[in-house]
Amino acid sequence: MSPILSIEQLAITLRGDLRVVDDVSLEVPEGEIVGIAGESGSGKSMTASALLGLLPDRSVTAGQAWWRGGREPVDLLTLDQRSWNRVRGREIAMVFQDATASLHPMLTVGTQITEHMRVHLKMSRRAARARAIELLDRVRIPDPEGALRSYPHQFSGGMRQRVAIAAALACEPRLLVADEPTTALDVTVQAGILRLLEELRIESGLSVLFITHDLAVLAALTTHAYVFREGRVIESGPTEALLFHPEHDYTKTLVAARPQADDWDDPEPVAGATA
Ligand SMILES: Nc1ncnc2c1ncn2[C@@H]1O[C@H](COP(=O)(O)OP(=O)(O)O)[C@@H](O)[C@H]1O
Ligand SMILES: [Mg+2]
Repeated sequence: MSPILSIEQLAITLRGDLRVVDDVSLEVPEGEIVGIAGESGSGKSMTASALLGLLPDRSVTAGQAWWRGGREPVDLLTLDQRSWNRVRGREIAMVFQDATASLHPMLTVGTQITEHMRVHLKMSRRAARARAIELLDRVRIPDPEGALRSYPHQFSGGMRQRVAIAAALACEPRLLVADEPTTALDVTVQAGILRLLEELRIESGLSVLFITHDLAVLAALTTHAYVFREGRVIESGPTEALLFHPEHDYTKTLVAARPQADDWDDPEPVAGATA
């Protein structure tokens, strides 16, 4: 079966001729969690932005990004605004490192989650509300009904990221692009989010492109991974093989530099705790 997403030789040049992605090819098979690792500035976020049509103004791309999660295959690099309205948030959703970037500070959580559904899925207010409660429960937010009336700042970082994930999942996207969604969180909270993504993958067949600079997270979550450096994929393969038998010197350095902490695997605190 063709992968749900295949990026072929993506290059991105920003205004002023700054080449930030040089040569990236990668695939996300349906229902799998694929990882991207690499140092800061290696083009991970730019690649993710290209997949959602969120590159800075006047960026120029080369290559293709074939999306097969819709009615017919489309090259995401060539979509017009109308097509984006269909794809972004609906077929492909994104969560960012900082949940405050995904959520609007002035709108209640309920409005943010239900708005997507009312616009995209044309759901009634009542149906959207019921689904929002279900989603918040799904991401283990205690008291989902109370949460609907709350504003993002009323949640802790971990809970806010869960809310952002719930909002991202509102329209049942086929692919979730997660750009370092757990980097700002402590290890226990992070473990809970990783578990959630794995559950969603198993239960709903969600495909995930997960960006991280944390190799422990990569190992825990992904089956296949790509290592970025200076805008290029320098190594890729099954995650285990990649981490235990890296071939490229750069990947060896990354693996050697990985903190020897297994503590990200700690059990999650009970719901309602500070997570
Ligand atoms: N809006 C921007 N304008 C100019 N350069 C940018 C912008 N955003 C990112 N860059 C540059 O693009 C390169 C890749 O950035 P990015 O994709 O964010 O890296 P990563 O996510 O891997 O840390 C970096 O050199 C960064 O400085
Ligand atoms: Mg980034």
